[in-house]
Amino acid sequence: MKAIINTDASNTISKIDNRIYGSFIEQLGRAVYTGIYQPAHSEADEEGFRKDVIKAVKSLHVPLIRYPGGNFLSQYKWEDGIGPKDQRPTRLDIAWRELETNQFGLHEFMHWSKKVGAVPNMAVNLGTRGIQEAADLVEYCNFPSGTKLSDLRVKNGDPKPFAIKTWCLGNEMDGPWEIGTKTASEYAHLANETAKAMKQVDDSIELVACGSSSLDNPTFGTWEETVLDECYDNVDYLSLHRYYGYYGDDDPTELDNFLAKNEDLDQFISGVVAMCDAVQARKRSSKQINLSFDEWNVWYHSNDADTKIKPWQVGPHLLEDVYNFEDALLVGSLLMTLLKHADRVKIACLAQLVNVIAPIMTDTDGGVWLQSIYYPFMQMATYGHGVVLNSSVDVPTYNSRQFKNVPLMDSVTIYNKDANELIVFAENKSQRENADLSINPTGFDIDHIVEATQFYGYDVKADNRDGKMAIRPLTSVELTGENISAKLEPLSWNMIRMAVK
Ligand code: AHR
Repeated sequence: MKAIINTDASNTISKIDNRIYGSFIEQLGRAVYTGIYQPAHSEADEEGFRKDVIKAVKSLHVPLIRYPGGNFLSQYKWEDGIGPKDQRPTRLDIAWRELETNQFGLHEFMHWSKKVGAVPNMAVNLGTRGIQEAADLVEYCNFPSGTKLSDLRVKNGDPKPFAIKTWCLGNEMDGPWEIGTKTASEYAHLANETAKAMKQVDDSIELVACGSSSLDNPTFGTWEETVLDECYDNVDYLSLHRYYGYYGDDDPTELDNFLAKNEDLDQFISGVVAMCDAVQARKRSSKQINLSFDEWNVWYHSNDADTKIKPWQVGPHLLEDVYNFEDALLVGSLLMTLLKHADRVKIACLAQLVNVIAPIMTDTDGGVWLQSIYYPFMQMATYGHGVVLNSSVDVPTYNSRQFKNVPLMDSVTIYNKDANELIVFAENKSQRENADLSINPTGFDIDHIVEATQFYGYDVKADNRDGKMAIRPLTSVELTGENISAKLEPLSWNMIRMAVK
């Protein structure tokens, strides 16, 4: 099959907000305990953080991390996780039915995120708590000193304010599973009043209101409109969450349909953008609400195993999906879809980061291993910076059971002005045919190929527990005059970095 990317320097979608490569640590399963925090491990540093995990997280280049949940958030008291560790209470986490020892809390998260080079995306509990506790947390974190709560932060070891900029107003408050779930109007009112109070404490913060936790929730649409109608002036982003897998009647051999699920993500984003803009128009407002896609991933492998896990353990093996090669291809395509909406998706969080539906796994008594999904995410988070170009791509399409006119090759082209590089990420979804790729970069004078790689050659159901998966050179790439060509293998993830003269 022939695949032609026509890209023009003057036709751009948007500058990428690097926070689109964010991720998520929830106090859930082994994300924290025996994941990022394990004081008794041979790799633990002076604060109990695993250095092998810090190294793996840094190599992923995640700039922002959402914390502390997730469903956990909606029943969490942030005060339990501060102060001397021997005085912190052990509590029931009634969201996930685990024991929470609170040995890892706010200060630990702030110190750890600094060590991995990320900023926090902090969330406040609007399930069982409300305005006062949220405003108190902003005061504790961001107020310099001289008040009860800011002085308590100083006493607890951090004299400098944390200066947390981005905050989520609750988590999945439309979800019937959530502790303290709300109707749209209940949430809208609480979120708006909480937003006002939090911004009274620190008017430099940015706030994310909960949108729908899934496109499938029956309240999708009315939820967004109700929430935005009330909160519009006091919030900056609306959230979206979406997970993919073989669900319900899906046939696990229906690969063409599975690999097309990014089309669903695309429609979801376009729909929410339309709703934000409809409210903006109705309000005759000059303010634009952008999107925070603060949970996305593949999640289905661990569902059965999770039902068998005994409740009330510390750090149980919950949500430990082992990802295979087809998941990596879908994750690559989902991230490219987010980038194609970079004009409106300013924050996104791969859910999650360590052990829990995660690209990075730990062995409690051993080391770290990387999942298949680590590779496409790592390449995009490392090199996908700059401006997304609005390329026209000429490629055959296919129809699957759920999706029509799906391009057989999915791609995104980015210009990084700082590095003076043009970068193409391209995924060949064909199960049989090579993609004979031709890139016509109008307005860019290409000097040489900096790097060309492929991720390919694995059984779609193979995982990376044996550590054999690797990014390899794409040797077929050629620069001839102004044209770049390459042969992309069937079911392959590819990256071509070109130096611009
Ligand atoms: O990421 C796992 C869970 O998925 C989160 O706790 C929740 O917000 C969502 O339903």
